[in-house]
Amino acid sequence: MNILRDEGLAGQGRQKIEWARAYMPALARLREVFLREKPLEGTVIATSVHLEAKTANLALLLKDAGAEVFATGCNPLSTQDDVAAGLASYGVAVTATHGCDPAEYTRQLSAALSCSPHLVLDDGGDFAELLHGQCSEYAARVVGATEETTTGVSRLRARMAAGALRYPVYAVNDADMKHLFDNRYGTGESVWAAIMATSNVLLAGKTAVVAGYGWCGRGVAMRAAGLGMKVIVTEIDAVKAIEAVMDGHTVMTMDEAAACGDFFVTVTGVRDVIAPRHFHKMKDGAILANAGHFDVEIDVAALRSGSTRCFEQRANILGFEQPDGRVLNLIAEGRLCNIAAGNGHPAEIMDMSFAVQALALTDMLKVGPSLNPGVYNVPREIDIKVSAYKLAALGVGIDKLTEAQEAYRHHF
Ligand SMILES: NC(=O)c1ccc[n+]([C@@H]2O[C@H](COP(=O)([O-])OP(=O)(O)OC[C@H]3O[C@@H](n4cnc5c(N)ncnc54)[C@H](O)[C@@H]3O)[C@@H](O)[C@H]2O)c1
Repeated sequence: MNILRDEGLAGQGRQKIEWARAYMPALARLREVFLREKPLEGTVIATSVHLEAKTANLALLLKDAGAEVFATGCNPLSTQDDVAAGLASYGVAVTATHGCDPAEYTRQLSAALSCSPHLVLDDGGDFAELLHGQCSEYAARVVGATEETTTGVSRLRARMAAGALRYPVYAVNDADMKHLFDNRYGTGESVWAAIMATSNVLLAGKTAVVAGYGWCGRGVAMRAAGLGMKVIVTEIDAVKAIEAVMDGHTVMTMDEAAACGDFFVTVTGVRDVIAPRHFHKMKDGAILANAGHFDVEIDVAALRSGSTRCFEQRANILGFEQPDGRVLNLIAEGRLCNIAAGNGHPAEIMDMSFAVQALALTDMLKVGPSLNPGVYNVPREIDIKVSAYKLAALGVGIDKLTEAQEAYRHHF
């Protein structure tokens, strides 16, 4: 049974799904193959991913491959109710509503898992949490899973180290065709698109503080520089800090950067990166946004309790008045801003990530029964196949090694 905000939004949702589909050529190529070969015939799949137009296209692709698909979100603020209704109208079971409270969110994820899936697609690890806890009865039939994001993979590795993981999982995030493009170019572009659309303030000449210079942070910093901003990076890893310096950014501690930033973006996967001692130093009007998976990177509870007033400035921006009169502005309540206050990554980016997902799931169906529980790299052939689809779609040719060159590479 579906859990939707409003079935009547289906038409609008279908329009969004079809718009995204036109920019997803790798999925189109896979659809041709999957419709012919039906590699997921008879398979039940539960998906927990940000429920918007690109994800809907992935769910429909899995359906075209023969699977019965049960889709839910992975963050209450990123679910788009019209897309959820549109996806349901195509015959996918959907249990997701925008902005639901934590108890309802858990109910919706549990409802999706009650299909007793063979395969599970997770984004952030909330399905895994349930399958190892209050929904453990549904874990028995799980052949394997895929995990979309950095934070989810870290959680799974921690669970594996504790000997408590029940099934094998492909770390889709770690595939080259995922993190090199999705985390860097997708997050880089969509974070600033969301901040611009939400705030409507000028970026050029301002100072952006980017916390974390991993795959996402590199993209966020690169695009900030491209938009004419001065970029300060904060890091805890010496190598990444040096990389940021050599990329032309200023590196300092958050204690120093707090007073300098007009915009702050956290992308670390770690909690309390911006804490009360930083709020005390920030400029009046500073805009704070998180792009890490969970809403823990900015200490929102402390921001709230240390403020004299909290009020809605604009849609998706809360103002927090400080005892000295300064106002700090928080986008999307500290949840990942590009999805909760924007449209997420561009469709061309998710085309690659979701092509990896679809191939990883079909592969997991075959190999899962013979794998021990654990976190596995996506087979290299999947990266190669998706990159070939993408190159073909871009109309880009690349050179091939000659036999002599091949032999030369292997000589010693
Ligand atoms: N918003 C999105 O659309 C989106 C997309 C992909 C990933 N993510 C999420 O973004 C987060 C980062 O992902 P990633 O792939 O860049 O991870 P990553 O591991 O490549 O990078 C994280 C970086 O943060 C640094 N870091 C850790 N603690 C820090 C601290 N206290 N201060 C400053 N730097 C610190 C680490 O040293 C590392 O360089 C994860 O939560 C991931 O799930 C979000």
